[in-house]
Amino acid sequence: MKKVRIGIVGLGRLGKKHAENIAFRIPNAELVAACSIVKEEVEDVQRNWGIKYGYTDFSEMLKNDELDAIFIASSSTEHCRQIEEALKAGYHVFSEKPLGVNMEEVIRAKEIVEQHQDKVFMLGFMRRYDASYAYAKKKIEEGAIGKPFLIRCYGLDPVKAVKGAIAFSEKSGGLFLDMAIHDIDLARWYLGSEAKSVYAVGSCYAYPEFKKYNDADNGAALIQFQNDAIGMFYAGRTCAHGYHIETEIIGTEGSLRIGTVPQKNLVTIFDEKGAVQECVSGFLERFEQAYVAEVQEFVNCILENRKPGVVVDDGVKSTEIAYACKESFEKNKLVFLNE
Ligand code: NAI
Repeated sequence: MKKVRIGIVGLGRLGKKHAENIAFRIPNAELVAACSIVKEEVEDVQRNWGIKYGYTDFSEMLKNDELDAIFIASSSTEHCRQIEEALKAGYHVFSEKPLGVNMEEVIRAKEIVEQHQDKVFMLGFMRRYDASYAYAKKKIEEGAIGKPFLIRCYGLDPVKAVKGAIAFSEKSGGLFLDMAIHDIDLARWYLGSEAKSVYAVGSCYAYPEFKKYNDADNGAALIQFQNDAIGMFYAGRTCAHGYHIETEIIGTEGSLRIGTVPQKNLVTIFDEKGAVQECVSGFLERFEQAYVAEVQEFVNCILENRKPGVVVDDGVKSTEIAYACKESFEKNKLVFLNE
């Protein structure tokens, strides 16, 4: 079997899981190289998983002629630069979301991707590959809820992870670019329309530490789409019961909800607290299947010489909307897009 030989950059909270998936769960992929500025992370995966090449310098990894593709799971501020370098060096590229953290760099990344049409480029909006989200999309396309006109999204990180989020804040792009961007991508996908106007609010209700980064611990946005559909988005970092990703899509003839109770599994515990359903603890648990499925799709696209469903423009459009949310939140004003 032909295998796609991959070099990964970024071995942090998510990158290490991607590395493990590529190494052990994608039959037609091989993890040949790993890179991180943290030497111990590189040594750890090399030692434990037998990865042939290790680097602390991304540019050095690109000189390895045993590679076919580069997988980018580094900090968000690094994505655009690394996408450009990797495409110019002749590799297929997968990049984690967000595409970038400002409009200048994402537009430049789009130009670079378009100059390399012979290469597969894919962005990590993994929710589109989650079985439930994909099923909901199919149902909408089959007309199960008529014409969708409202989407309500909750994207809540567990409060247990808040310390990491504070430390990560400087490089994350903020609440809307870092978290709400997944929901923004889903809204565009389900509603089939782009944003027209955005109004976002939020504050530091529990963790003033985010103020230093001009960020909020909880925020919400109301978005009007070009087809007049409504988007209601709530993103937060202080969820007491776990990782709560919930989406409701309301149409002219019905509605769909995904993840209303973010339950861990089908077990209900009956005890002195009542009937208890435990909740998923974080993104690695909730989207375990989707993280494998998206990488499998990337690898299949390379082997079958076709383009994936998530393209660079999804990165540009979602960044544009998330950036408008950030601007609206920071300036406390209604922001119109494409003006
Ligand atoms: P992290 O901070 O835990 O890890 C970042 C990794 O990148 C570290 O290994 C660090 O050493 C490495 N790195 C940073 N700059 C580098 C450079 N110039 N050269 C080489 N290595 C470099 O971050 P985390 O949480 O793993 O997030 C990584 C990316 O994944 C972010 O862009 C984030 O937005 C995205 N993400 C996506 C999720 C999803 O659900 N799709 C969930 C969590 C994160």
